[in-house]
Amino acid sequence: MSRTVLLLPGDGIGPEIVAQAERILRAVNEKFDLNLTFESALVGGAALEEMNTPLPDATLDRATKADAILLGAVGGPKWDGLPMAERPEKGLLGLRSKLELFANLRPAVLYPQLASASSLKPEVVSGLDIMIVRELTGGIYFGQPRGVRQLESGERQGFNTYTYTESEVRRIGRVAFEAAQQRNKKLCSVDKANVLEVTVMWREIMNDLQREYPDVELSHMYVDNAAMQLVRAPKQFDVIVTGNMFGDILSDEAAMLTGSIGMLPSASLNSEKQGMYEPCHGSAPDIAGQGMANPLATIISAAMMLRYSLNQEEAAAAIEAAVSTVLDQGLRTADIMSEDGTRVSTSEMGDAVLAAL
Ligand code: NAD
Ligand code: IPM
Ligand code: MN
Repeated sequence: MSRTVLLLPGDGIGPEIVAQAERILRAVNEKFDLNLTFESALVGGAALEEMNTPLPDATLDRATKADAILLGAVGGPKWDGLPMAERPEKGLLGLRSKLELFANLRPAVLYPQLASASSLKPEVVSGLDIMIVRELTGGIYFGQPRGVRQLESGERQGFNTYTYTESEVRRIGRVAFEAAQQRNKKLCSVDKANVLEVTVMWREIMNDLQREYPDVELSHMYVDNAAMQLVRAPKQFDVIVTGNMFGDILSDEAAMLTGSIGMLPSASLNSEKQGMYEPCHGSAPDIAGQGMANPLATIISAAMMLRYSLNQEEAAAAIEAAVSTVLDQGLRTADIMSEDGTRVSTSEMGDAVLAAL
């Protein structure tokens, strides 16, 4: 049975990094006889330019039918002045929402070869392996009402609304408890229950769910403390579960523990385990088009895709092993460069992973 992988390169460094991940995917497709078919489509700024919308119907249609999606990144300064509804980011948010990709898994794992690339001391990060489970289709990103309104006083007021329904909290909670069961059985729920009612309810529901997962040790932490603990003693965490915006922020922070944002992959899953896979970083306009971007987060995201959506553990593990081999060889893009490393470009990194496969 043939399965379709939809590639959505997007903007900025998106096309550069997706091109490398595509080479790797095509290689494992041959090597492991996976019968994958590849398609690509426009999203974000690239779609705006061609079709006047960040999420064309044709792209949404293909995304709905695809067995898995690999996305690069969207956005860039060219589109920053547009009204919110027309921005490239709406393309990505629309895909997440329309496909109900509510569970965003962001594993912050330190490859031991990169211990010195982290901005923290090697002993603080060595052996780091955290799974951040971020709710992706609710919270303040999607709550209504939202906008900017004119007040009677004459000034404008901007507003967004932080909402979660019980069922939204429960389903992301289950994903996190189940992830913890597969790992070290520790779950930390991150909230702001000392200030925000929505997260008081979030905390209650997590406590409630815990009764169904007696083997998992549940703790709670306020998000400000969690941000601090992540850089003080990150290895205290196993699985972290949190809402959309806190998860966005904490995962970029956790990325730096692994050496670079260019190393952090992600999977966004719905209840059918259909998934969109993407690096956690953005379109990096400051380095786009220069062949400098680190493609490894995207390549590791492709491995997650093989594991979670295509059920190809062997091929996924082969990609991860190849990444480890190139790091052993001392090959480094600029973001993870160290004194004794060999500096390589985006495509040279792709060449090396391919060779290691
Ligand atoms: P960014 O992640 O694009 O860049 C932050 C910094 O990290 C930059 O210095 C960049 O050069 C560096 N960086 C990021 N990825 C890298 C890689 N693979 N290799 C080496 N260095 C890398 O974040 P930003 O600058 O805040 O956002 C830029 C644009 O990207 C914005 O339009 C934003 O909305 C968008 N964005 C998109 C996504 C996505 O598509 N998933 C995620 C985050 C930001
Ligand atoms: C991410 C990005 C997105 C988010 C933006 C581009 C909409 O920062 O995937 O982390 O905030 O979710
Ligand atoms: Mn982000």
